[in-house]
Amino acid sequence: MDFNELAREYGTPLYVYDFDYITNRYNMLKDAFSARKSLICYAVKANSNLSVLKLLASLGAGFDCVSIGEVRRALLAGAKKYQIILSGVGKRDDELEEALKSDILMINLESEAEMYRLEDITKKLNLKARISIRVNPDVDAKTHPYISTGLNENKFGVDINTAKKMYIHAKNSAALEPVGVHFHIGSQLTNIEPIIEAAGIVSELMRELKALEIDIKFFDVGGGIGIIYQNETDISLYDYAQGILAKLGGQDVTIVCEPGRFIVGNAGYFLTSVLYEKFNKQKRFIIVDGAMNDLIRPSLYGAYHGISVVGKNTSAGACDVVGPICESGDFFAKNLNLPACESGDIIVIKSAGAYGFSMSSNYNSRARAAEVAVQDKAHRLIRKRENFEDIIALEKEFI
Ligand code: LLP
Repeated sequence: MDFNELAREYGTPLYVYDFDYITNRYNMLKDAFSARKSLICYAVKANSNLSVLKLLASLGAGFDCVSIGEVRRALLAGAKKYQIILSGVGKRDDELEEALKSDILMINLESEAEMYRLEDITKKLNLKARISIRVNPDVDAKTHPYISTGLNENKFGVDINTAKKMYIHAKNSAALEPVGVHFHIGSQLTNIEPIIEAAGIVSELMRELKALEIDIKFFDVGGGIGIIYQNETDISLYDYAQGILAKLGGQDVTIVCEPGRFIVGNAGYFLTSVLYEKFNKQKRFIIVDGAMNDLIRPSLYGAYHGISVVGKNTSAGACDVVGPICESGDFFAKNLNLPACESGDIIVIKSAGAYGFSMSSNYNSRARAAEVAVQDKAHRLIRKRENFEDIIALEKEFI
């Protein structure tokens, strides 16, 4: 990829996504489950650009959504309604209502209170709701605490006993149809054991439900497959899929998984231009035009992203790569060896395809970056750079 050319043509800060890589990753996962019925529901939150969604829809992907906004995006991008799941720990009435009317595959419930609310709404609309229940299997995903979700101390899902109670209620309700079971224990998991362990626990629940004549059709193992940012070991998709299948035994279900990062993470690059080099006493800083509002992962999680300067290799010593925002937390790297930079050099921040643009904001009234797709060696704009007018559009009429 010619990063200099892309930066020249579209400006910086800029997100660039390799669509061929995305295609490849989707196919890898689909193939891993080829022995069974499976549905790969891409987690829209990771990267919700419409062109990314359209690409995945064209490959046959379903979509895991956590707001009605994401459902609308998926539908707009050409997703089939029967391949869309709505999850989320707190869905509003209007979201539940719209999901029901949109006739999506299933609504994932995360509490008893939500089940009763959905039941009321469904009755009012004279519909029937296909539901799944997010079970919290109480296993430790051993990842960053902010992205770990499968312990009872986390806000997500319900424990096994509550889930059973909910399934029995749903079975006896004219408004609810239990079709799925779901768990998701965390993100960026580089050890699949906790997922397999959770699959075992939830698979056992499914067997018990079967004995109660509650026939689960979709076994949703969530997302969370980790990727390589630095020196993590790559997950074996074969072991992942086989581990899950082994826990399922002969149960005849469609396996659903909800990968986000695995599909788009390493497809993305964030390009930013060097503004200045600066020395404070001994400390060296490279100040760039991108900032934490564009890519918040280093600031928020202390996440590592590989960084290089286009066309330069010889290190000039350690430096911090920082943005222009008025916070000391506004950095992309600390104490990293990088070449001497001049104003205008292009810095590439790797592994930026997941939770990059989708977590960006207008903090400091900064316009959000443009997004570009590279496919078959050609590139095209898939989201325009915001301008000042875009930032103030919703406030202007009130002054
Ligand atoms: N399914 C559910 C129910 C989820 O909550 C998530 C992510 C996924 C699937 C997709 O997980 P993935 O395959 O991408 O790991 N902002 C954080 C990650 C937050 C993940 C939230 N849930 C980060 O930048 O690392």
